[in-house]
Amino acid sequence: MSSSININFEQYLVSTKPKGAAIPVGLQDLLLAVVNTCSTLSHEVAQGALIGLLGSAGSGNVQGEVQQKLDIIANDQLIDGVKGCKSLAGLASEEMELPIAVQGTGDYLLLFDPLDGSSNIDVNVSIGTIFSILKKQDPSARMQTSDFLLSGRHQVAAGYVVYGPQTTMALTLGDGVVMFTLNKETGEFLLIKDAVTISPSTKEFAINMSNMRHWADPVRRYVEECLAGTNGVRDKDFNMRWIASMVADVHRVLSRGGVFMYPWDKRDPKKAGKLRLMYEANPMSFLVEQAGGASINGTQTIMDLKPTGLHERVSVMLGSKEEIDRLKQYHS
Ligand code: AHG
Ligand code: MN
Ligand code: MN
Repeated sequence: MSSSININFEQYLVSTKPKGAAIPVGLQDLLLAVVNTCSTLSHEVAQGALIGLLGSAGSGNVQGEVQQKLDIIANDQLIDGVKGCKSLAGLASEEMELPIAVQGTGDYLLLFDPLDGSSNIDVNVSIGTIFSILKKQDPSARMQTSDFLLSGRHQVAAGYVVYGPQTTMALTLGDGVVMFTLNKETGEFLLIKDAVTISPSTKEFAINMSNMRHWADPVRRYVEECLAGTNGVRDKDFNMRWIASMVADVHRVLSRGGVFMYPWDKRDPKKAGKLRLMYEANPMSFLVEQAGGASINGTQTIMDLKPTGLHERVSVMLGSKEEIDRLKQYHS
């Protein structure tokens, strides 16, 4: 899959042939609807306080987390943006307990984290939107919640849009990863990178170090060895970054390699992790695998996990292959 740099997203959709076949028109429409909504959201995010977008919404989501105004606005706009898509049977979101039937029947199911990095909205740090598109097993059957509970391997597309100094999208259709940047003057996403790859080795890791005392031994061992640098078994010095927006941390990993971890910890041992499998871990794992990296929960490959609930949480370790292999070995 090779495309010329600077073509816009629409041109890309009609000209690219992932694995040799044109993108079905229904999937093109859906992707375009999602991406056009993200273009509008980017414009609004940039206005912030000027249009009254900051602050808490004074409500909580199904997972007991405080919702920000922008969490709800982004959720509503995405629903609005895709509701006319003929191929979309239904959608599910971090902000809603149950899925919504769009056409009820159709080829695709859409999942999204409308606004990732909620704690960063009010402090003007990069945030984003994450999306995952599943092929519905039986397009003619009426949509049910259980239709969504497919492993990440059933994704036909996944991506994110990060609202940072630039608004950039990473996308996979199962044949590599491409990136587009929004031209804020025209509202068009333009291709900036074809065939994104994550280097197998790295000297950079990302984890919320304040949870160190709660980690399981394999994670603690891995991070302690990184911290020991040239004085330890790794024999190289590591750098650490933690933005606290998964979109921005994963964007860095896709851009220059690295490891991103939000592992299980002892704070709430019954919780598998903090991040959500269906609309955070799976789409990011699809991107990372398609860029030559790896993504595990410690012992298992995330994309192979069979979900049991729409809002299921999972332990996440993803990025440069050699580091993920090492983490897996420490967990075995
Ligand atoms: P969301 O804003 O969609 O709830 O996701 C926030 C997630 C993720 O983006 C980030 O990596 C992590 O929460 C940050 O958690 P800490 O504040 O515990 O570091
Ligand atoms: Mn999130
Ligand atoms: Mn969110």
